[in-house]
Amino acid sequence: MDTTASALEPYATCRTISNVPAEAVRHVWEAKDGTSVLLRAIKPDDFEIERDFVNGLSRSTGYKRLMSGRRPTFDEMHRWTHIDPQREGAVITVVLIDGRKRQVGVARYAMEPGKHDVAECAIVISDAWQGRGLGSQLLSSLIKLARQSGLKRLYGTTLAENGAMVRLAQRLGFRVSYDPHSTFLWALSLELTSQE
Ligand SMILES: CC(C)(COP(=O)(O)OP(=O)(O)OC[C@H]1O[C@@H](n2cnc3c(N)ncnc32)[C@H](O)[C@@H]1OP(=O)(O)O)[C@@H](O)C(=O)NCCC(=O)NCCS
Repeated sequence: MDTTASALEPYATCRTISNVPAEAVRHVWEAKDGTSVLLRAIKPDDFEIERDFVNGLSRSTGYKRLMSGRRPTFDEMHRWTHIDPQREGAVITVVLIDGRKRQVGVARYAMEPGKHDVAECAIVISDAWQGRGLGSQLLSSLIKLARQSGLKRLYGTTLAENGAMVRLAQRLGFRVSYDPHSTFLWALSLELTSQE
């Protein structure tokens, strides 16, 4: 089977902040069961697969991601696929199921207004793909993109009970500490000044 990135999906040019080519993070990862997973920067025409992905998440997974039981709106999902490459980065994971392209994860960062070299990040993997090593691959790709785009720090927040996210963050070098504003959240922070 051809497991190259171009076999899973033809390449389309897309640029991120500082004109870093999306190619920098585009690669295929092979899961333990042999499934080829394409990791690449998000594009505006990913709206439909992003919408299906988000709508397919369980309530528990959606809650851990948004820390709320609400369902994302059309406008939010539109914005998540039409990112501002000067201030945001997003890497998605795509698999072929019955010849149809499906999104099974996304990791993203976004700078807050007024900040230019630090960004908040978040990640979510579809329920069926959790615990299979994909989160590690995806967050590593986002870190690479952030580093190559000139960011100095990524930070985030997770529920203290979210063992998978805490473990994943620790594994990739994030400092994990109590969030001073909340007893049920952990603060995550990764300095990007050192080279990989
Ligand atoms: C958190 C999340 C992104 C992790 O991705 P994943 O693909 O499931 O994680 P991986 O399989 O790559 O595992 C990463 C590490 O976490 C550990 N892990 C996985 N599931 C775990 C669990 N339920 N409890 C504790 N540790 C767990 C793995 O053993 C691995 O550690 P190791 O490398 O030391 O063995 C994913 O589970 C998810 O999308 N959860 C719901 C949404 C969410 O919580 N988002 C984060 C909001 S900030």
